[in-house]
Amino acid sequence: MKRLSLACSLLALLMAPMLMASVGTGQWLKHVPEQDRVRSNPLAHDPDATAAGAKLFHSDCAPCHGADAAGRGSRPMLRSERVRRATDGELEWLLRNGNLAHGMPSWSRLPEVQRWQIVRYLHALPI
Ligand code: HEC
Repeated sequence: MKRLSLACSLLALLMAPMLMASVGTGQWLKHVPEQDRVRSNPLAHDPDATAAGAKLFHSDCAPCHGADAAGRGSRPMLRSERVRRATDGELEWLLRNGNLAHGMPSWSRLPEVQRWQIVRYLHALPI
């Protein structure tokens, strides 16, 4: 009996990361105020913004989301339909506010222009 419960605990331990890998439920989208959702990216036509965003992504985001943005463990994949469908304003809101309760830090310390650069990069990611 003891051995069985040990086996069960081990199984639970092994399963936890698998279950966590499915997080990234997109619940945060429900919290984005309308005026933020509809904000447009002031760098939408800046040809250098995506490359600048890539640099920031690799220093600030890749440690959690992976250099290829394919996600790691509980950190969701960013090459996804959800990220693609999110508006520029929604993504900037998430970067500014974070979702710390779910492990996503706030990037409010970055100048706003850098968050918009990252948003350009996120929307340029292949799925
Ligand atoms: C400390 C680890 C960590 C770092 C660093 C981090 N993130 Fe996250 N991120 C997370 C976690 C965990 C989630 C899942 C939160 C949730 O689903 O509510 C997340 C969620 C997201 C989402 C929403 C994805 C979805 O499908 O809903 C985006 C977009 C995102 N991060 C972008 C970034 C960007 C861009 C950076 C760099 C500026 C970054 N993250 C840095 C951990 C991190």
